[in-house]
This record gives sequence, structure tokens and C-alpha cells, in this order.
Amino acid sequence: MLAKIEQLLQEVEGLTARNAEELEALRIKYLSKKGAINELMADFRNVPAEHKKEVGIKLNELKSRTQERIAALKEAFESQDTGMSELDLTRTAYPVSLGTRHPLSIVRNEIIDIFGRMGFTIADGPEVEDDLHVFTSLNFAADHPARDMQDTFFVEANQDDVTKNIILRTHTSSVQVRAMENSQPPIRIICPGRVYRNEAISYRAHCFFHQIEGLYIDKNVSFTDLKQVLLQFAREMFGPETKIRLRPSYFPFTEPSAEMDISCDICGGKGCAFCKYTGWVEILGCGMVDPNVLEACGIDSKIYTGYAFGMGVERITNLKYKVKDLRMFSENDTRFLKEFESAN
Ligand code: DAH
Repeated sequence: MLAKIEQLLQEVEGLTARNAEELEALRIKYLSKKGAINELMADFRNVPAEHKKEVGIKLNELKSRTQERIAALKEAFESQDTGMSELDLTRTAYPVSLGTRHPLSIVRNEIIDIFGRMGFTIADGPEVEDDLHVFTSLNFAADHPARDMQDTFFVEANQDDVTKNIILRTHTSSVQVRAMENSQPPIRIICPGRVYRNEAISYRAHCFFHQIEGLYIDKNVSFTDLKQVLLQFAREMFGPETKIRLRPSYFPFTEPSAEMDISCDICGGKGCAFCKYTGWVEILGCGMVDPNVLEACGIDSKIYTGYAFGMGVERITNLKYKVKDLRMFSENDTRFLKEFESAN
């Protein structure tokens, strides 16, 4: 009997099971009523009294070892089960599905490319700015409404000197100021970046959006140069048939100032609901840099002139891809983002 127990003990140590059925079969074989261990228990009656103690201890050991082993096997394949049984290791890794570039990045890169080919390099500046770079140096009067808390997010309001207020930049024109402070003409830059305004969020306004600012300062830069560069940009961005028109406007930092429209690319200028039956859609603001701005940034306005322009990346993207709700750009809904797969 002892030999039989010893043999079973060894057998039990080597047990394996790959799934629940195999495990159940083992349980039945060893631990059920008619299992091997119960059979031994039944034979125990016939063990001579002097050996009963020794055999009894061994028999109990066999039973508890078997229970432990079966429990351990169960645990092993249960923990493996979470996932492993779902994993198809024979499945191919290809094709790898790639993410898509965000529509605003696609359009921003295209704008950077177009101006890059015309000699503009990229300049960068901080999003948390001081009033001096966002307003004062750009010729905003001290009581200009754009400085108001209703439009501007304040980080730190300075009671004694508003030019020291720390704010979130409301436009990328602040990067013009930094570029002019840090270098002398010729300066030919574009400044892509995020800007912030204290607006209620709706389908057509958001508290942050993206702009691209352009600046060219040199000797003898004229309005004609500005118009030519913008016409070239509009044709490359919206197609060779695109027309532009410049309407007089006002910005504190440019004189003269203009707003530029392009011919509506939906109706080709005939008039439709998209262009409100005017045949034109507005895309950017521009003008000749005001001499006050040049002087505030340390550039001699008697020697140099320049132009500037600024556009909203969301606006250009809407025109190109007809996105009706601005909020789509910041919701990260992959169903929306995937639509731009082919534009990457
Ligand atoms: N900074 C203006 C805005 O946020 C856009 C702009 C207009 C930029 C005219 C310019 C410009 O450089 O000349 O609305």
C-alpha cells in the first residue's frame, strides 16, 4: 500500500492540464468518490493495525498534495485565460494601421510649405505673453477694447503698469514684435501658433484656436509686394483660378490695413449659400506695418518698411474641407479625424 501511495505522490507532482476539461478529468481520476485516493481510503481498513499510523499519515499527505496540485493548475490556466485564450498568435501583424494627421496640422503644414517656397522661415514665441508684446508694441491704445478681460485671459494683472500684465496671447502678431526686437531686417517670417480668447464655446467660436502670422520687413517693401505674395498663396492653397480682393479695414498695427477675400470656391464666384450670395469669402487680415510698430521694436522706420498678414488656420481649414462645427477640431473623435486619412 505504501508503495502505491508513493507512486501516486510522484504522479500527482507531474500533473498538467491545458484547459478546464482536462483539469476536471484529473479531479475525477484522483479526488472523486470513485477516484484513486478514495479507493486507497477504502483499502485502509485492511492495513494491519501496527502500520495504520504510518500509512494514514502518508495517505493524508497524498490527498492534500493532490488537492493543492489541482488548485495550482486551475489558478495557472485561469490567470493565463484572461487574454491568452483571446489572443490569436498566428494572426499577421500587417497591415499596421497608422494614425492620421490632424486636419489643422495638415493645413498648417501646407501653409508653411507655400510660404516656405517664397522664402519665409518659421518663427516662434510664447503662448503666455506680456501685454507689451501682444498689445502695447503693436500700437493698441491703452483703452483698446481687445485689452478687456472679456476678450483676454489674464494670468497676472499688474495694477501699476498694464504693459506688465501677463496674459495668454490673443493673436500671433506678438511673435512679429519678438522677431523685430531680436533681429534687424531683412526679416521674412511666418509664425504659426495657438492663440486664446475669452469666448463662449459654440460651433463658430472657441476659447483657443490657431493662427499664422506673416511679416516681411526690408528696404522698399510695398503694398504691391504684399498683394502679389497673397495672390500666390491663395492660388496655391485654393487652386489656380482663385481670385482675391482687398477691402480697406483697420488694425492698430498696420497702416493702411485690409481684409482679403477669395472668390468662393463652391460657386466659383457666382453666389451661393456658403458665401452668402456675395461670391467672396474672407480669409485674412493684412497691411503695411505701422511705423509706430517698427519704432517700438527698434527698427528705423525711415529706412525700412514692411507688410504683415494674419490668418486663422481653422478658417482656412473650414474653407478647404467644409467643417461646419469648430468644436470638431478639439474633440478628438477618431471618426472625424479618420476622414482626413487621404489628405495626409
Ligand atoms: N492679429 C489679427 C487678428 O488676430 C490678424 C492680423 C491682421 C494680423 C492684420 C496681421 C495683420 O499681421 O496685418 O485678428
